Amino acid sequence: MSNFMAQWVYSPAVKDHFMNPRNTWDEKENFVPDGVGDVGSLACGDQMRVMIQVKNDRIKAIRWLTYGCASAIASTSMLSEMAIGLTLEDAYHLSPEMITEALGGLPEHKFHCSVLGDKGLRAAIDDYLEKNGLPNPYRHSVAKIVCECHNITDVQIENLVKTKQATTLEELQEITKYGSTCGKCKADIAGLFDELKHIYNV
Ligand code: FES
Repeated sequence: MSNFMAQWVYSPAVKDHFMNPRNTWDEKENFVPDGVGDVGSLACGDQMRVMIQVKNDRIKAIRWLTYGCASAIASTSMLSEMAIGLTLEDAYHLSPEMITEALGGLPEHKFHCSVLGDKGLRAAIDDYLEKNGLPNPYRHSVAKIVCECHNITDVQIENLVKTKQATTLEELQEITKYGSTCGKCKADIAGLFDELKHIYNV
């Protein structure tokens, strides 16, 4: 019984942001975004849209909407407060760990719910830079090597999934050659690939 109850314990900040989410999109407001990021899958019930207004290279305003769970709502609400006023570079580097910490923690099995908001924000910044013909120096600064033997980063894999060049693990393997030397990256890349397919609804 006590284990069961422990699963219901959320921090005061999570409860507050879930009950009173900040910066949510309201169609009556007529918010005109400079950049829009869509991530997640409606079929799985966790689609997320993040919209930003940008002024002088900083996030001036942000609006979002999601069909995600309580943890996704609280995480994105907190993210939206943290992002306002940040430079695009700093906003790009907001991580799920930083958001979770600001919320006073999330139950471990709920951590994955906090990853959509920051991906949505990055997608909105990418969209803003692309629409304005500006270079995107941030994209590769968040890259992590996921296959050391072939020097492949998570951002490369994300691009291949997002652009639907790799829709199966076999296609990804064919293009990148990941896992074909020592093989120790295979399980982690398979997990990353599944997560990205879900996020980009591939
Ligand atoms: S780390 Fe990927 S094949 Fe060795």
